Amino acid sequence: MNTRREYRFKLISNRKPHSPVSDAYRGIRTNIQFLKRKNDIKSILVTSTRAGEGKSLTCINLAIAMAQTNMKTLYVDADLRRPGVHRAFVLSNETGLTSYLLGECDLETVVHEEVMANLSIVTAGPVPMNPVELLESPSMTQFLEKMADRYEMILVDSSPMIVPDASILAMLTDGCIFVVEAQKTKRASAQRAIQQLKKLHVNILGVVLNKQKEKYLSEDYYYSY
Ligand SMILES: Nc1ncnc2c1ncn2[C@@H]1O[C@H](COP(=O)(O)OP(=O)(O)O)[C@@H](O)[C@H]1O
Ligand SMILES: [Mg+2]
Repeated sequence: MNTRREYRFKLISNRKPHSPVSDAYRGIRTNIQFLKRKNDIKSILVTSTRAGEGKSLTCINLAIAMAQTNMKTLYVDADLRRPGVHRAFVLSNETGLTSYLLGECDLETVVHEEVMANLSIVTAGPVPMNPVELLESPSMTQFLEKMADRYEMILVDSSPMIVPDASILAMLTDGCIFVVEAQKTKRASAQRAIQQLKKLHVNILGVVLNKQKEKYLSEDYYYSY
C-alpha cells in the first residue's frame, strides 16, 4: 500500500493485524460468525446516529477482518450522500452503486473484485439527487439478493440515521451494527435511533463503542454485545 492509501481511514486490520485494535475487530467478527451460523446472516448494515462517528472505519475494518478468514466478503458503500471508500482504496468512483441502480451498468462492472484477498468493493458512484428513491427502488433489493448469491458476507456502509437511507437499508439487510462514539454520541439521540430500528423490526446484532479513550480502557476501541 502506498502512502496515498493512508488517508482518512485507518485500515488497521490490514496494516497492523496483531494490534489490540485488530483484535477488537476480530472479536466483533467472531460474534458475527457465531450469530451467522445460528441465523443465516448474509448482509449486515453499519449505521450510527450522525456523521463522523466511525461507521465507515468500523465497516471497512470488519470487512477486512472477515476477508482474512477466507470468507468471500463484499463491502458496499451505500452512503450515497458522503461516500468515501473509493478514496480509502484509491478506486475509481465513476461508476458505482448509484450507476447500477440507475441501470447505467451491470453487476459485473460495478464490483471492484478482490481489492484484497477475498475482499471485493462496490463504491457508491456519483452522488445522486434522490438517494432515498434509489435505495427504495426494486433495483436495490435485487442488487443485495444477487450479491448474496455471490458472496458469503456483505457489509453495507450507510448514512447516519438522521436521514431515512439507513432505515431503508436496515429493512433490506439481515442485521445491523450500530456505532456509538464514546463521550460524543448523545444518549437520547442513540436511543431514538435504536428505537426507530426496533420499530422496523431490524435485527440489531450489536453496538460498537468507537473512539474510546485509553484512560477509560486499555485499547482505542471497544465493542460490546
Ligand atoms: N477509533 C478511531 N480512532 C481514530 N480515528 C477514528 C476512529 N474512528 C473514526 N475515526 C476517524 O474519524 C473520521 C470519521 O470516521 P468515519 O468512519 O468516516 O465516520 P462515519 O462513516 O460515521 O461518518 C475519519 O477520519 C476516521 O478515520
Ligand atoms: Mg461514512
